[in-house]
Amino acid sequence: MDHFLYNNGALYAEDVALTEIAEAVGTPFYVYSTATLTRHFRLFNEALAGMEHLVCFAVKSNSNLAVLKTLGDLGAGMDVVSGGEYRRAKAAGVPGERIVFSGVGKTAEEIALVLEGGIRQFNVESEPELLEISRIAAAMGVTAPIALRVNPDVDAKTHEKIATGKSDNKFGIPIAKARAVYAEAARLPGIDVIGVDVHIGSQLTDLAPFEAAFMKVRELTQLLREDGHNIRRLDLGGGLGIPYERSNSAPPLPVEYGDVIRRTVGDLGCEIEIEPGRLISGNAGLLVTSVIYLKEGEGRDFLIVDAAMNDLVRPSMYGAHHDIVPVIEADAAILPQPVDIVGPVCETGDTFAKSRPMPPLRAGDLVAFRSAGAYGAVMSSEYNSRPLVPEVLVNGDQFAVIRARPSFEEMLARDSIPEWL
Ligand code: LLP
Repeated sequence: MDHFLYNNGALYAEDVALTEIAEAVGTPFYVYSTATLTRHFRLFNEALAGMEHLVCFAVKSNSNLAVLKTLGDLGAGMDVVSGGEYRRAKAAGVPGERIVFSGVGKTAEEIALVLEGGIRQFNVESEPELLEISRIAAAMGVTAPIALRVNPDVDAKTHEKIATGKSDNKFGIPIAKARAVYAEAARLPGIDVIGVDVHIGSQLTDLAPFEAAFMKVRELTQLLREDGHNIRRLDLGGGLGIPYERSNSAPPLPVEYGDVIRRTVGDLGCEIEIEPGRLISGNAGLLVTSVIYLKEGEGRDFLIVDAAMNDLVRPSMYGAHHDIVPVIEADAAILPQPVDIVGPVCETGDTFAKSRPMPPLRAGDLVAFRSAGAYGAVMSSEYNSRPLVPEVLVNGDQFAVIRARPSFEEMLARDSIPEWL
């Protein structure tokens, strides 16, 4: 459930009409709902009730400082994958002991940065990385808490670009090699082995792959304990999918996911950590855009909107579906007609939807892309020299711009022409 509902024929974000935000900030813009973010975070917390746990929001899904502060103030931890994300989590007021550092290519600078600023744990993805963390921690005279990210060789049954748990993916340490690497970790200076980490992919709509992976983590934990390691924390990653199409059957709920965790690893006496991103932020955000033209083509009509693939890349990158709805509700008596919904960028790939049934729309009308709060603004670019779109946060009847639209001057000022040119 989200908090974007029609009220007297107009789409609202909580108690604020989207038309009001559009007048204030122009289009396109992203808008997020505090109530939805809060609700989704709490669903995970409740799903893990009874087990010692920390829900670490995957910052990569939406890294706006106001979003991070909203979740951090509720007690969320943060899962970061770069020094930049770490700095964001810190700037949003989240202490180091609630920040987990994941990612396959942590640099020496990033390792030193988080050891300096405080870190809950490193999720280590390879032996060379383990050695590098040990070297830097020992040189700094500190101890780095670590979990090894194991690759359980489980098919997550999701889009190939976002599956991470098969042995041919670049992620993690093959689970068959894990005992040997743990033994090495235990011998290294500056390293405190505390747990096991796994993340098999994103937008999973079936619980079976989670169950298979968590069972492997269970077996490994028991073996590692026999080997003498004090395994006291399990990080089970993120990945629970969301309903992108309201007409389709819904993916499993956090509570059902929580039951899988309880059933597979709940009795091991470990603290449970999870790293959800999409399920917390995805349906908490919309991308609102205006119709520029309706162009009648041969055999198909094109609705050209002022958002484009640079603002929301998921449809062109993954063939992803986003529900697209008019901000002013259409007259139910008028039959929707199929249109291709496209942006102004000069690529055929800049297509959001093909033959999508839509009510009649005219230039200037507003439409909203649903489920755009995760992997939306964070993946945007300035391709075609289109300035990044602003982000707005709603809370009840108030709203605020939480990232302003840059001016063209600001955009151009980042380039420089060498003196000799
Ligand atoms: N933890 C790790 C280590 C991850 O790599 C990811 C996502 C997550 C947690 C959060 O997964 P989530 O709960 O959001 O599914 N850009 C793609 C998604 C990429 C996901 C990358 N890793 C998309 O737009 O679908």
